[in-house]
Amino acid sequence: MVRPYGVKGRKRKKNREVYDKEEEEEVHEEGNEVVDDEENVAKRSKAEEDEDEAKAQHVADELSGIPIGPLVEDDKKNGVIFILERASLEVAKVGKTYQLLNSDEHANFLKRNNKNPADYRPDIAHQAMLMILDSTLNKAGKLKALYVRTEKGVLFEVKPHVRIPRTYKRFSGIILQLLQKLSISAVGKREKLLRVVKNPVTQYLPVNSRRIGFSHSSEKLVDIGDYVNAVSNDVNLVFVVGAMAHGKIEKEFVDDFISISGYPLSAAYCISKITNALERKWKIL
Ligand SMILES: C[S@@+](CC[C@H](N)C(=O)[O-])C[C@H]1O[C@@H](n2cnc3c(N)ncnc32)[C@H](O)[C@@H]1O
Repeated sequence: MVRPYGVKGRKRKKNREVYDKEEEEEVHEEGNEVVDDEENVAKRSKAEEDEDEAKAQHVADELSGIPIGPLVEDDKKNGVIFILERASLEVAKVGKTYQLLNSDEHANFLKRNNKNPADYRPDIAHQAMLMILDSTLNKAGKLKALYVRTEKGVLFEVKPHVRIPRTYKRFSGIILQLLQKLSISAVGKREKLLRVVKNPVTQYLPVNSRRIGFSHSSEKLVDIGDYVNAVSNDVNLVFVVGAMAHGKIEKEFVDDFISISGYPLSAAYCISKITNALERKWKIL
């Protein structure tokens, strides 16, 4: 059974790279799941457009009002937060439609625009998000929040109970809509399952948190099992993992910067080592 999604507000151009000036096309959702649906494009009446404009304004007002709900209700319970940094999630107009750029489908387009196709890997963030949300750590309620920050600096929050599409095509449809319309809600509900929020991410982190950055390049090589076992249960652990193909995460807001293997890992495998270590620590089977 697929969880229904809806999209609040109107698409915005703010977070999109504009590669040409053609008119944008509609993208909208249908049935139980959001789809990037070019076939179902419909002409909108003036009244509908006005209504959308009002909704968009509401969303914009709400976003500028941030912060999102602080983690007050969870303050007494320890848990973990994941931050995926430098996620390669970029939208551009390719031909007549806006698309999430990826090295498989848009290599020629990217080369024509003097971009390196190897840098456009939204699949890394997709796999990483699935790994976090699928974990028994999350099922046991220990995941407090997941934040994703794109290479362009757009920060969005993903609610732990969201069911992210498992296929890449559907995932790209969701991300496309999120970056255009700034939030995605469950149909018929006000709760935003995914939403763009203001930077910096640090304003959403609990006071009692320890921020741990991950990189193969760190000289501090640790056994992640021993590392998490040594942290007091009162502390909220914040894990910052890169979701890009090359380069490393910034160290600026982390308390510790560690390597957990002598080998370079994929983001998804790195995350699975972290979640497995925590599941063992808290005896989550
Ligand atoms: C695909 S890698 C990024 C590649 C990049 N060259 C690097 O090693 O940072 C994705 C992320 O996984 C994490 N990672 C990969 N190997 C790691 C290791 N041995 N120790 C800790 N984190 C690692 C880092 O956060 C990295 O940004």
